[in-house]
Amino acid sequence: MHYRDLLIRRIQNKDARIAIIGLGYVGLPLAMAFAKNGFQVIGIDVDADKVAAINRGESYVRDVSSEELAAWTINTSNGGSIRATTDYIALSDADVAIICVPTPLNKTSDPDVRYLIAAGESIARYLHPGMLVVLESTTYPGTTEELLLPMLERGEWQGRPRQVGVDFFLAFSPERIDPGRTDWTVENIPKVVGGVTPACLEVATVLYQQVVERVVPISSPAAAEMTKLLENTFRAVNIALVNEVTLMCDKLGLDVWEIIEAAATKPYGFMKFTPGPGVGGHCIPLDPHYLSWKLKTLNYNARFIQLAGEINSEMPRYWVEKVQDVLNEVEKPVKNSRILVLGVAYKKDIDDIRESPALDIIALLKDKGADVRYHDPYVPRFSYNDFTLTSEPDLNAALTEADCVVIVTDHSSYDWQEVYRRAALLVDTRHVL
Ligand SMILES: NC(=O)c1ccc[n+]([C@@H]2O[C@H](COP(=O)([O-])OP(=O)(O)OC[C@H]3O[C@@H](n4cnc5c(N)ncnc54)[C@H](O)[C@@H]3O)[C@@H](O)[C@H]2O)c1
Repeated sequence: MHYRDLLIRRIQNKDARIAIIGLGYVGLPLAMAFAKNGFQVIGIDVDADKVAAINRGESYVRDVSSEELAAWTINTSNGGSIRATTDYIALSDADVAIICVPTPLNKTSDPDVRYLIAAGESIARYLHPGMLVVLESTTYPGTTEELLLPMLERGEWQGRPRQVGVDFFLAFSPERIDPGRTDWTVENIPKVVGGVTPACLEVATVLYQQVVERVVPISSPAAAEMTKLLENTFRAVNIALVNEVTLMCDKLGLDVWEIIEAAATKPYGFMKFTPGPGVGGHCIPLDPHYLSWKLKTLNYNARFIQLAGEINSEMPRYWVEKVQDVLNEVEKPVKNSRILVLGVAYKKDIDDIRESPALDIIALLKDKGADVRYHDPYVPRFSYNDFTLTSEPDLNAALTEADCVVIVTDHSSYDWQEVYRRAALLVDTRHVL
């Protein structure tokens, strides 16, 4: 029997052992999804603290509760199970390896693929006949076939070169989860998959069919990589557009929110995006740069991406000007004014501050000599640039004592009537009322 048929059978019988490489915001919920569906899951992460926490049944990702995790790590009478390790040797008896490692940017905003390379090299060491490898990390078109495939194809099995689609299988399937969301989860977000060969696509499709409601097979890994980048570039560009419309409306003396609501009454051809403090998180501000970097290697300048990045990253400066303006009206300088920033997470109801525009707003205000405090129920303390801040312990007191309150993140737990009632002056980047 061909490796393809053997692996498909093992997957369908839930005998296939699934290794998830990188147990962060993406990897841990994915590990849970496979365990819940009856698979033995091995989680591999270089962070020994995360590994130990998982094996104790303690979750550090909000989308997975510790209670839920413990049900699949400590109590394994449910069929599926999760065990975590830092040792890649665990791949020796895995049938599937799914890569969910970070894909950040380096200091010059170019793709930093060192985590991908490290994961790829470790997998190559333990790759064995009949194994499926899937990359889920967001990356530039071509990564799976240009970067990962050569690493996995190196070497021989039984005196002949390893052959993708025959001896082992390789695919790309972008992760689309939106942390903090409960209506769209790993299980019900459609999963796009592109395989290096038709057999790779078939095996990967069967794999995801076990855990997600709808799998969308497409022609190649590069097409799947590009799909993810289209999705996130679409968001970055449209957010930038509505942010720029905000700047325009400001100059025209118009209320941008009234205009957006009015435009949104059009039943077709308009999609509502809302302005804000900028963009944050580990996807929207970063992913489009993966695409523009790739295009640069082909002598093409991705203009929309560049412009969107410029507009979105300038928004914190715009909001700091607004703070200056409202203080000016009551004849106060920014210097030494007490300013309370509400919410530093990059979006509501999560604890992730990566690339959060709140950080730049705070840094700019501090540069001007303001006495900046913040409150965030999800972020007790954080460090950025050369400062460390701790969340105000008493929100009501902090609201009352502030000369100006800046709303950045609209966490659901905030009582906005109370915020508006207590704030002497207010700048609302999110227009939540
Ligand atoms: N967070 C999101 O909302 C989201 C959504 C869709 C896609 N993505 C993409 O998914 C990928 C992972 O993102 P994330 O938010 O889960 O990142 P994360 O930083 O939360 O988790 C990544 C994990 O990988 C581990 N790791 C790093 N190098 C490793 C290695 N060589 N071997 C094993 N483990 C290693 C890290 O210790 C970390 O625990 C990125 O490409 C990201 O762009 C993220």
